[in-house]
Amino acid sequence: MSKIILIGFMGCGKSTVGKRLSYAFRKPFLDTDKIIEKKANMTISELFEEKGEAYFRDMETACIKELMKESGEYIIAVGGGLVLRSENRRLLKELGHVIYLRALPDTIYERLQKDSTRPLLQGDNPKEKIRTMMSERAAVYEEAAQFIVDVDGKEFEEIVKEIGEKIL
Ligand code: S3P
Repeated sequence: MSKIILIGFMGCGKSTVGKRLSYAFRKPFLDTDKIIEKKANMTISELFEEKGEAYFRDMETACIKELMKESGEYIIAVGGGLVLRSENRRLLKELGHVIYLRALPDTIYERLQKDSTRPLLQGDNPKEKIRTMMSERAAVYEEAAQFIVDVDGKEFEEIVKEIGEKIL
């Protein structure tokens, strides 16, 4: 097994699935948002507000480049927008198995309707924002992925099992 990288829209379950995979495979779990928050000493929302999205996106690319230097195996969840840059998609493919956790907009809305930590989904009509962003990004996620796992209506255990079957 090499590194497992989880991609997908906000709220698709990357962190939960990642933590469970980490337990199942006894490998460390990493999360680019958490690494960036620690490095910047700010939350993602503060970073977007004080430094802007472009600054955050540069930090994401820098984070992936740093991870490329690590030789060990690990499971990593990457921020939902990290794959928007083609350079990042290329780097992720070099890094390991890229798994896209694909969800329907209604699933995401259900999970995130009370969330206040995703700056891109704040403001009026989050349901519409989710739909628009997901349709804009769908092809990019698919292009970035080695494997796609549909998550709607599935227990986390089932998702973890499916990933295990694909990569082992
Ligand atoms: C973003 C996803 C978030 C976080 C930031 C931007 C995006 O990560 O990086 O709010 O553009 O999709 P999660 O996918 O972990 O929520």
